[in-house]
Amino acid sequence: MIEHRIEGAQRESIPVTDPSLAAGYCSASNRNSGDCTACPAYGASMREPDAVFADPRLAVLYDFFDDDRSDLTAYLALVDELGARRIVDLGCGTGSLAVLLAARGLDVIGVDPARASLDVAGRKPYADRVRWVHGDATVLDVGDKPVDLVVMTGNVAQVFADGEDWHTTLACARRWLRRDGWLVFETRRPESRAWESWDVQPTEVTLPDGRQATVSRTVTSVDLPLVSFKSVTRVDGRTSSRGRRSDSALPQRSPRI
Ligand SMILES: C[S@@+](CC[C@H](N)C(=O)[O-])C[C@H]1O[C@@H](n2cnc3c(N)ncnc32)[C@H](O)[C@@H]1O
Repeated sequence: MIEHRIEGAQRESIPVTDPSLAAGYCSASNRNSGDCTACPAYGASMREPDAVFADPRLAVLYDFFDDDRSDLTAYLALVDELGARRIVDLGCGTGSLAVLLAARGLDVIGVDPARASLDVAGRKPYADRVRWVHGDATVLDVGDKPVDLVVMTGNVAQVFADGEDWHTTLACARRWLRRDGWLVFETRRPESRAWESWDVQPTEVTLPDGRQATVSRTVTSVDLPLVSFKSVTRVDGRTSSRGRRSDSALPQRSPRI
């Protein structure tokens, strides 16, 4: 039996950040200078991604549990509206948007610190047309080819429970973008109190390979802007004799509001 217990907190509101503050994290005297390797943030390490993205046994389940990607329609429409040709998908995970963009002939860079999720992404159609980068924002240098658009889909912005990591990420995005480029991400509306419907009683599901899984989720505290919760995934199957358990301190993707 594999049992994963994930405890963590998710930021429910994103601080409004003055662009000049983000600029303060960037060593460039002007933006778009193209040399990210000269930046003090280059290669700085952030919090490890959650096991739900980084553990190969869980990363392969991500698209199964999160199969409704109607949220990506708005991003595709935005890409068209903005006429973006060169795009960074930051926190691309299993690459659902990146491969859709690549299929349209766009120049896409998918960045994610979870190797196991990138491995899933790399097996998708059109994955060979995407430049995959393993790491967080601090490892990407776009050189002298600034991008038109940076996106963070599916609650990526909520993983930054730490304000320092968030500001560093914004500064990096700013650096990659061409003048008048766009950064698009999602945040939540705390007033809608989405966490009140997050609890999931232990529920049996059959995975695509026929194995049985039990999933549950419990909100453990609400201390805005952070909401903490625990989620447990149990998968019975060939690895049952190992009885492995992993604990981690970051949240899994929470339900959309
Ligand atoms: C909820 S998933 C969303 C994945 C993908 N964008 C999607 O829409 O399916 C959050 C992603 O953020 C990634 N992540 C965690 N920490 C990160 C960081 N510091 N910088 C960028 N991405 C990060 C995780 O590895 C994970 O793939």
